[in-house]
Amino acid sequence: MSDAQGLHAVRGRIVHCLHDPGEGDDRNALEVFDDGVLLIEGGRVARVGPAEDVLATVGAEVSVTDCRGQLVVPGFVDVHIHYPQTDMIASYGEQLLAWLERYTFPTEGRFGDAAVAADTAGFFLDELLRNGTTSALVLGTVHPESVEALFQAARGLGMRLAAGKVLMDRNAPEYLRDTAESGYRDSRELIERWHGVDRLSYAITPRFAPTSSEAQLERVGELATAYPDTYVHTHVAENRAEVAWVSELFPWSRSYLDVYDCYGLVRERALYAHCIYLDERDRRRMAETGAVAGFCPTSNLFLGSGLFDYATARSDGVKVGLATDVGAGTSFSMIRTVAEAYKVAQLQGTALSPARLLYLATLAGAEALAVADRIGSFREGNEADFVVLDPTATPLMARRHAHTESVEEQLFALFTLGDDRCVKSTWLQGACRYSQSDRA
Ligand code: GUN
Ligand code: ZN
Repeated sequence: MSDAQGLHAVRGRIVHCLHDPGEGDDRNALEVFDDGVLLIEGGRVARVGPAEDVLATVGAEVSVTDCRGQLVVPGFVDVHIHYPQTDMIASYGEQLLAWLERYTFPTEGRFGDAAVAADTAGFFLDELLRNGTTSALVLGTVHPESVEALFQAARGLGMRLAAGKVLMDRNAPEYLRDTAESGYRDSRELIERWHGVDRLSYAITPRFAPTSSEAQLERVGELATAYPDTYVHTHVAENRAEVAWVSELFPWSRSYLDVYDCYGLVRERALYAHCIYLDERDRRRMAETGAVAGFCPTSNLFLGSGLFDYATARSDGVKVGLATDVGAGTSFSMIRTVAEAYKVAQLQGTALSPARLLYLATLAGAEALAVADRIGSFREGNEADFVVLDPTATPLMARRHAHTESVEEQLFALFTLGDDRCVKSTWLQGACRYSQSDRA
């Protein structure tokens, strides 16, 4: 795959975002090389540019993977996903609170068994790669074993991944509860063992305010202060009944987000999934602290939760990452997720541009996780995580593709019509970790 100097070239139509194209759809945000080369050395981006120029500098013996006719884009970043919910995706008929009781909690109950955790973690990471996702922020279950299994599997693949054990000490079945003390201790042990190992990071993960006592949130806040470069990862303001329940459980709070804020959890590297029922003050607070909103369109539609207001979040200065939220989300595919994000924005009068859709699937996630200096674009020196996409993967896509003129049109058709069938190969640090052609 690489020559003696560790050089490897990937040739194709290279497209990546240099920054957020924004509402004005800034043309300079997208860098495109129609016949381009991504040159990789030691697992990092050495250079990106027109094939002719880059190949002229490297000598004829460099190995070249020829992906002409295909798109080479940065790997997708999924900022909120539950790996233990893999086996209960597509569970019928309920909205959030009943869905948790009926399907989620019984499924998560199985993850105290290390064999279940290891088997599911392996499948889950393969499924991410099959869908072109190269980085994710992942929830485990309450069991530390669940996170142990996931980190071990991700480490074996060389994947950049963040995860954490769920903390919950009330309003959940007995078999899924920790305590303020055990949750604190188990999380701290996992941080000490895994945070910063290879490409892994720890996320302190209270499930959501209703399942943590005030004593537990207090301890979680202490952890978040003691380990400021870990993530904080939770849910907020997803569903109307949930929001009403939080105001009963925490009558002193100004808002749902305020509960977390009072425990020091609204900060840099804090990722709040959903953020549908926030008010302007909440959004301003997120913006001023650097906390991030996780936009989960397939989940929000599937559970009938509501519509995330992307345009308002951004204009209020909130950072936003895109997420599948499997198993409430209905697909591992960030391509499908982008398509639903587009529709959710359309329902609110905003048409997200093709460049912005690519941004949401890639660089926005890297920015959300504060790793844009490592992944999310092909900046020189970045880790070479990327995906090769076939814009003609199905007969309909091929037919539509024949009628596209610009790269923006191609991207838009791919995001609207595509899914895992478009993912030809997925690469981590310059090594191919999934190839469609290897499938049985
Ligand atoms: N809120 C608390 N737990 C969950 C969960 O597992 N999924 C979703 N979508 N929302 C939650
Ligand atoms: Zn979730």
